[in-house]
Amino acid sequence: MQAIVSDIHSNLEAFTTVLEDIKSRGITDIICLGDIIGYGPNPKECVDLALDFKLCLLGNHEEAVLFEVHAQGFNPRASSAVRWTNRQFDILGEDRDSNARRWDFMGAMPRNYVANGITLVHGSPMDNTREYIYTTDVRNPKKMARIFSQVDHLCFVGHTHTPGVWTQDFTYRSPAELDFVYHITAKKTIINVGSIGQPRDGDPRACYGLFDGSTVQWVKLGYDVEATARKIHALKGLDDSLGDRLREGR
Ligand SMILES: [Fe+2]
Repeated sequence: MQAIVSDIHSNLEAFTTVLEDIKSRGITDIICLGDIIGYGPNPKECVDLALDFKLCLLGNHEEAVLFEVHAQGFNPRASSAVRWTNRQFDILGEDRDSNARRWDFMGAMPRNYVANGITLVHGSPMDNTREYIYTTDVRNPKKMARIFSQVDHLCFVGHTHTPGVWTQDFTYRSPAELDFVYHITAKKTIINVGSIGQPRDGDPRACYGLFDGSTVQWVKLGYDVEATARKIHALKGLDDSLGDRLREGR
């Protein structure tokens, strides 16, 4: 059994809640599909917790914080969070030795993993860090056909912060519609494991996936949302709305 996590977004309360749950199940194989950082108040602590994961892929927030701190394509509150996060990893400041290690770790993150019919990416197989696969894309057959043409059998993604399953027959199903378990078939399938630190499916609980080769299970866990929101509200570099949205899961 493997745990597949994504979009932690510097939310330490949500992340530690999930890691305790994973540990309590006796699972040691953890894969992260990107966006450990960005938006939230504890980027360094969250990176440190992921250092010994089996695999951590690059997300668009790591990419922006590391390589293009004045990134295009981010809205104003996201780009100011990118700049605030970048400053936390200052390699000339007080915490420079630890930050150099964190910088090396993030800088070495691969953009994808493809083996044995399985593709792992942050966004999509076409544009690994940037493209979103939305629930509404089932009404965009051209886009779905293009994406599925790059999928051998299974593709695990994050990035939209919306968990669920897309199949090649232009169907999307949410975890709730599937009773939180999906049995893998021979069909090409895209699976979004959801977001730990900033869910956007209307459910504020932290969400992650468990995969044993034949089934995917989504786990949702309540955590101390108010503690994270309070930290965000206290930080000048992070917009208050980034804390408020955690209460709604939007
Ligand atoms: Fe994200």
